[in-house]
Amino acid sequence: MIEGTAALLRWYVEQGVDEAIGEEPIDRFAAPPPAPAVAAVAPSPPAARAPTPLRAPPSPPPAQTRAPVPLESPQLVEDARTLADGCSTLAELEAAIRGFEGCALKRTAKNTVFADGTPGAPVMIVGEAPGADEDRLGKPFVGVSGQLMDRMMASIGLTRDGGFYITNILFWRPPGNRTPTTAEQGMCLAFTRRHIELAKPKVLVLAGGVAVKAVLDTTEGITRLRGKWTGYTLGDGTVIPTMPTFHPAYLLRTPASKRQSWQDLLAIDKKLKELG
Ligand code: URA
Repeated sequence: MIEGTAALLRWYVEQGVDEAIGEEPIDRFAAPPPAPAVAAVAPSPPAARAPTPLRAPPSPPPAQTRAPVPLESPQLVEDARTLADGCSTLAELEAAIRGFEGCALKRTAKNTVFADGTPGAPVMIVGEAPGADEDRLGKPFVGVSGQLMDRMMASIGLTRDGGFYITNILFWRPPGNRTPTTAEQGMCLAFTRRHIELAKPKVLVLAGGVAVKAVLDTTEGITRLRGKWTGYTLGDGTVIPTMPTFHPAYLLRTPASKRQSWQDLLAIDKKLKELG
Protein backbone atom coordinates (compact mmCIF):
# COMPACT_ATOMS: atom_id res chain seq x y z
CA MET A 1 0.00 0.00 0.00
CA ILE A 2 2.74 2.46 1.07
CA GLU A 3 4.84 1.39 -1.92
CA GLY A 4 1.89 2.01 -4.23
CA THR A 5 1.34 5.48 -2.74
CA ALA A 6 5.05 6.31 -3.04
CA ALA A 7 5.05 5.18 -6.67
CA LEU A 8 2.02 7.38 -7.37
CA LEU A 9 3.70 10.39 -5.72
CA ARG A 10 6.91 9.72 -7.70
CA TRP A 11 4.85 9.63 -10.88
CA TYR A 12 3.17 12.94 -9.97
CA VAL A 13 6.56 14.59 -9.40
CA GLU A 14 7.88 13.22 -12.71
CA GLN A 15 4.86 14.73 -14.44
CA GLY A 16 5.54 18.12 -12.82
CA VAL A 17 2.62 17.89 -10.37
CA ASP A 18 4.30 19.33 -7.29
CA GLU A 19 1.60 21.61 -5.90
CA ALA A 20 -1.96 20.82 -4.79
CA ILE A 21 -3.53 23.97 -6.21
CA GLY A 22 -5.66 25.13 -9.12
CA GLU A 23 -4.37 26.86 -12.24
CA GLU A 24 -6.65 29.88 -11.84
CA PRO A 25 -6.71 32.37 -8.96
CA ILE A 26 -9.95 32.58 -6.98
CA ASP A 27 -11.51 36.04 -6.91
CA ARG A 28 -13.01 36.02 -3.44
CA PHE A 29 -14.45 39.51 -3.89
CA ALA A 30 -16.78 37.93 -6.45
CA ALA A 31 -17.64 34.96 -4.23
CA PRO A 32 -21.08 34.87 -2.57
CA PRO A 33 -21.10 35.75 1.15
CA PRO A 34 -21.07 32.83 3.59
CA ALA A 35 -24.51 31.38 4.36
CA PRO A 36 -26.05 32.79 7.56
CA ALA A 37 -25.74 30.51 10.55
CA VAL A 38 -28.85 28.34 10.97
CA ALA A 39 -30.77 29.32 14.11
CA ALA A 40 -30.89 26.59 16.73
CA VAL A 41 -34.36 25.03 16.88
CA ALA A 42 -35.54 23.23 19.97
CA PRO A 43 -36.15 19.56 19.13
CA SER A 44 -39.80 18.46 19.16
CA PRO A 45 -40.82 15.81 21.67
CA PRO A 46 -40.46 12.29 20.17
CA ALA A 47 -44.24 11.70 20.16
CA ALA A 48 -44.84 14.74 17.93
CA ARG A 49 -42.33 13.67 15.26
CA ALA A 50 -43.64 12.70 11.84
CA PRO A 51 -43.00 9.07 10.85
CA THR A 52 -39.73 8.54 8.98
CA PRO A 53 -40.48 8.46 5.24
CA LEU A 54 -39.36 5.35 3.34
CA ARG A 55 -37.10 7.12 0.87
CA ALA A 56 -33.43 7.95 0.63
CA PRO A 57 -32.31 11.06 2.50
CA PRO A 58 -31.56 14.06 0.26
CA SER A 59 -27.97 13.99 -1.02
CA PRO A 60 -25.62 16.70 0.33
CA PRO A 61 -25.08 19.71 -1.95
CA PRO A 62 -22.09 19.43 -4.31
CA ALA A 63 -18.90 20.87 -2.79
CA GLN A 64 -18.73 23.89 -5.11
CA THR A 65 -22.12 25.22 -3.93
CA ARG A 66 -20.90 25.56 -0.35
CA ALA A 67 -20.14 29.15 0.69
CA PRO A 68 -16.34 29.64 0.63
CA VAL A 69 -14.53 30.89 3.67
CA PRO A 70 -13.62 34.53 2.87
CA LEU A 71 -9.81 34.22 2.96
CA GLU A 72 -9.38 37.64 1.40
CA SER A 73 -11.55 40.67 1.68
CA PRO A 74 -11.28 44.46 1.46
CA GLN A 75 -11.12 44.38 5.27
CA LEU A 76 -7.91 42.33 5.13
CA VAL A 77 -6.38 44.87 2.76
CA GLU A 78 -7.32 47.54 5.33
CA ASP A 79 -5.78 45.40 8.11
CA ALA A 80 -2.55 45.11 6.11
CA ARG A 81 -2.45 48.89 5.69
CA THR A 82 -3.03 49.54 9.40
CA LEU A 83 -0.36 47.01 10.31
CA ALA A 84 2.13 48.46 7.81
CA ASP A 85 1.48 52.05 8.88
CA GLY A 86 2.17 51.07 12.48
CA CYS A 87 5.72 49.95 11.64
CA SER A 88 8.46 52.47 12.17
CA THR A 89 11.52 50.41 11.18
CA LEU A 90 12.31 47.91 8.43
CA ALA A 91 12.78 45.21 11.09
CA GLU A 92 9.28 45.89 12.44
CA LEU A 93 7.87 45.79 8.92
CA GLU A 94 9.59 42.49 8.17
CA ALA A 95 8.21 40.99 11.39
CA ALA A 96 4.71 42.30 10.58
CA ILE A 97 4.80 40.76 7.10
CA ARG A 98 6.13 37.44 8.38
CA GLY A 99 3.34 37.34 10.95
CA PHE A 100 0.56 38.40 8.59
CA GLU A 101 -1.85 35.55 7.87
CA GLY A 102 -4.35 37.44 5.70
CA CYS A 103 -2.82 36.69 2.30
CA ALA A 104 -3.78 33.34 0.79
CA LEU A 105 -0.46 33.15 -1.09
CA LYS A 106 1.30 32.49 2.19
CA ARG A 107 -0.47 29.15 2.50
CA THR A 108 1.12 27.68 -0.60
CA ALA A 109 4.52 29.41 -0.33
CA LYS A 110 7.49 27.76 1.38
CA ASN A 111 8.98 31.06 2.57
CA THR A 112 8.21 34.73 3.08
CA VAL A 113 10.52 36.63 0.73
CA PHE A 114 11.09 40.05 2.25
CA ALA A 115 14.18 41.79 0.83
CA ASP A 116 17.87 41.48 0.13
CA GLY A 117 20.78 43.84 -0.39
CA THR A 118 21.53 46.79 1.86
CA PRO A 119 18.74 48.65 3.66
CA GLY A 120 19.39 52.38 3.23
CA ALA A 121 21.32 51.85 -0.04
CA PRO A 122 20.97 54.64 -2.66
CA VAL A 123 18.88 52.46 -4.99
CA MET A 124 15.81 50.38 -4.15
CA ILE A 125 14.60 47.92 -6.79
CA VAL A 126 11.03 46.62 -6.66
CA GLY A 127 10.16 43.60 -8.80
CA GLU A 128 7.07 41.48 -9.17
CA ALA A 129 6.97 38.28 -7.13
CA PRO A 130 9.21 35.50 -5.89
CA GLY A 131 9.64 32.58 -8.27
CA ALA A 132 10.51 28.98 -7.38
CA ASP A 133 14.18 29.72 -6.51
CA GLU A 134 13.28 32.73 -4.39
CA ASP A 135 10.55 30.75 -2.61
CA ARG A 136 13.02 27.96 -1.83
CA LEU A 137 15.78 30.27 -0.58
CA GLY A 138 13.63 33.01 0.98
CA LYS A 139 15.46 35.82 -0.89
CA PRO A 140 14.34 37.96 -3.83
CA PHE A 141 15.98 37.80 -7.25
CA VAL A 142 18.27 34.83 -6.70
CA GLY A 143 17.31 32.82 -9.81
CA VAL A 144 18.44 33.43 -13.38
CA SER A 145 16.66 36.75 -13.75
CA GLY A 146 18.12 37.88 -10.41
CA GLN A 147 21.58 36.97 -11.62
CA LEU A 148 21.02 39.10 -14.72
CA MET A 149 19.77 41.94 -12.50
CA ASP A 150 22.99 41.69 -10.42
CA ARG A 151 25.16 41.85 -13.58
CA MET A 152 23.20 44.85 -14.87
CA MET A 153 23.57 46.76 -11.61
CA ALA A 154 27.25 45.80 -11.34
CA SER A 155 27.78 47.42 -14.76
CA ILE A 156 27.09 50.79 -13.09
CA GLY A 157 29.09 49.86 -10.01
CA LEU A 158 26.22 48.83 -7.73
CA THR A 159 26.08 45.55 -5.81
CA ARG A 160 23.77 44.19 -3.11
CA ASP A 161 26.61 44.92 -0.74
CA GLY A 162 26.00 48.64 -0.22
CA GLY A 163 24.75 49.63 -3.67
CA PHE A 164 21.15 48.54 -3.75
CA TYR A 165 18.26 47.09 -1.77
CA ILE A 166 15.83 44.76 -3.55
CA THR A 167 12.32 43.49 -2.95
CA ASN A 168 9.06 42.61 -4.74
CA ILE A 169 5.48 43.83 -4.61
CA LEU A 170 4.53 40.31 -3.43
CA PHE A 171 6.17 38.59 -0.48
CA TRP A 172 4.95 35.09 -1.31
CA ARG A 173 5.25 33.09 -4.50
CA PRO A 174 1.95 32.82 -6.37
CA PRO A 175 1.43 29.07 -6.93
CA GLY A 176 2.66 28.04 -10.36
CA ASN A 177 3.73 31.71 -10.83
CA ARG A 178 0.14 32.60 -11.65
CA THR A 179 -1.00 36.22 -11.78
CA PRO A 180 -1.93 37.36 -8.26
CA THR A 181 -5.51 38.46 -7.63
CA THR A 182 -6.36 42.11 -7.04
CA ALA A 183 -6.83 41.41 -3.33
CA GLU A 184 -3.45 39.66 -3.04
CA GLN A 185 -1.75 42.56 -4.79
CA GLY A 186 -3.62 45.13 -2.69
CA MET A 187 -2.61 43.47 0.56
CA CYS A 188 1.05 43.19 -0.33
CA LEU A 189 1.11 46.68 -1.83
CA ALA A 190 0.08 48.18 1.51
CA PHE A 191 3.31 46.69 2.91
CA THR A 192 5.37 47.66 -0.14
CA ARG A 193 4.36 51.31 0.14
CA ARG A 194 5.54 51.35 3.76
CA HIS A 195 8.66 49.46 2.68
CA ILE A 196 9.58 52.28 0.27
CA GLU A 197 8.82 54.91 2.95
CA LEU A 198 11.10 53.24 5.46
CA ALA A 199 13.94 52.40 3.05
CA LYS A 200 13.73 55.95 1.61
CA PRO A 201 16.15 55.36 -1.29
CA LYS A 202 17.62 58.15 -3.41
CA VAL A 203 16.32 56.40 -6.52
CA LEU A 204 13.52 53.87 -6.93
CA VAL A 205 13.69 51.35 -9.80
CA LEU A 206 10.51 49.49 -10.75
CA ALA A 207 11.31 46.31 -12.67
CA GLY A 208 8.59 45.13 -15.04
CA GLY A 209 5.05 46.11 -15.93
CA VAL A 210 3.34 44.51 -12.94
CA ALA A 211 5.44 46.42 -10.38
CA VAL A 212 5.15 49.64 -12.39
CA LYS A 213 1.36 49.44 -12.63
CA ALA A 214 0.92 48.55 -8.96
CA VAL A 215 3.34 51.04 -7.39
CA LEU A 216 2.55 53.96 -9.72
CA ASP A 217 -1.15 53.05 -9.76
CA THR A 218 -1.33 53.38 -13.52
CA THR A 219 -2.74 51.41 -16.41
CA GLU A 220 0.04 52.56 -18.78
CA GLY A 221 2.21 49.73 -20.08
CA ILE A 222 5.91 49.29 -19.39
CA THR A 223 6.85 49.86 -23.03
CA ARG A 224 5.52 53.41 -22.85
CA LEU A 225 6.82 54.17 -19.37
CA ARG A 226 10.30 52.61 -19.33
CA GLY A 227 13.26 54.92 -19.49
CA LYS A 228 11.24 57.99 -18.39
CA TRP A 229 11.82 59.44 -14.95
CA THR A 230 8.74 59.84 -12.81
CA GLY A 231 8.29 60.59 -9.11
CA TYR A 232 7.04 58.46 -6.22
CA THR A 233 5.75 60.68 -3.41
CA LEU A 234 6.22 59.59 0.18
CA GLY A 235 3.81 60.46 3.00
CA ASP A 236 6.04 63.36 4.10
CA GLY A 237 5.94 64.87 0.61
CA THR A 238 9.44 63.75 -0.45
CA VAL A 239 9.46 62.82 -4.12
CA ILE A 240 11.75 59.90 -4.99
CA PRO A 241 13.01 59.88 -8.61
CA THR A 242 11.62 56.67 -10.04
CA MET A 243 12.73 54.75 -13.12
CA PRO A 244 10.42 52.14 -14.67
CA THR A 245 12.48 49.56 -16.54
CA PHE A 246 12.08 46.16 -18.17
CA HIS A 247 12.03 43.10 -15.93
CA PRO A 248 15.18 40.96 -16.32
CA ALA A 249 12.99 37.91 -17.09
CA TYR A 250 11.68 39.83 -20.12
CA LEU A 251 15.26 40.66 -21.13
CA LEU A 252 16.16 36.98 -20.99
CA ARG A 253 13.32 36.26 -23.42
CA THR A 254 13.96 39.36 -25.56
CA PRO A 255 17.71 40.06 -25.53
CA ALA A 256 17.35 42.84 -28.15
CA SER A 257 15.66 44.97 -25.45
CA LYS A 258 18.84 44.95 -23.35
CA ARG A 259 19.94 47.94 -25.40
CA GLN A 260 17.09 50.02 -23.92
CA SER A 261 17.78 48.71 -20.43
CA TRP A 262 21.38 49.83 -20.80
CA GLN A 263 20.08 53.36 -21.50
CA ASP A 264 17.99 53.11 -18.31
CA LEU A 265 21.04 52.01 -16.32
CA LEU A 266 23.05 54.95 -17.63
CA ALA A 267 20.22 57.31 -16.66
CA ILE A 268 20.17 55.82 -13.14
CA ASP A 269 23.95 56.22 -12.85
CA LYS A 270 23.71 59.85 -14.01
CA LYS A 271 20.88 60.63 -11.56
CA LEU A 272 22.84 59.14 -8.65
CA LYS A 273 25.85 61.28 -9.54
CA GLU A 274 23.65 64.38 -9.73
CA LEU A 275 22.11 63.59 -6.35
CA GLY A 276 25.60 63.13 -4.89
N1 URA B 1 11.22 37.91 -10.48
C1 URA B 1 10.82 38.87 -9.64
O1 URA B 1 10.12 39.79 -10.00
N2 URA B 1 11.23 38.79 -8.39
C2 URA B 1 12.02 37.84 -7.94
O2 URA B 1 12.35 37.86 -6.76
C3 URA B 1 12.43 36.85 -8.84
C4 URA B 1 12.02 36.89 -10.11
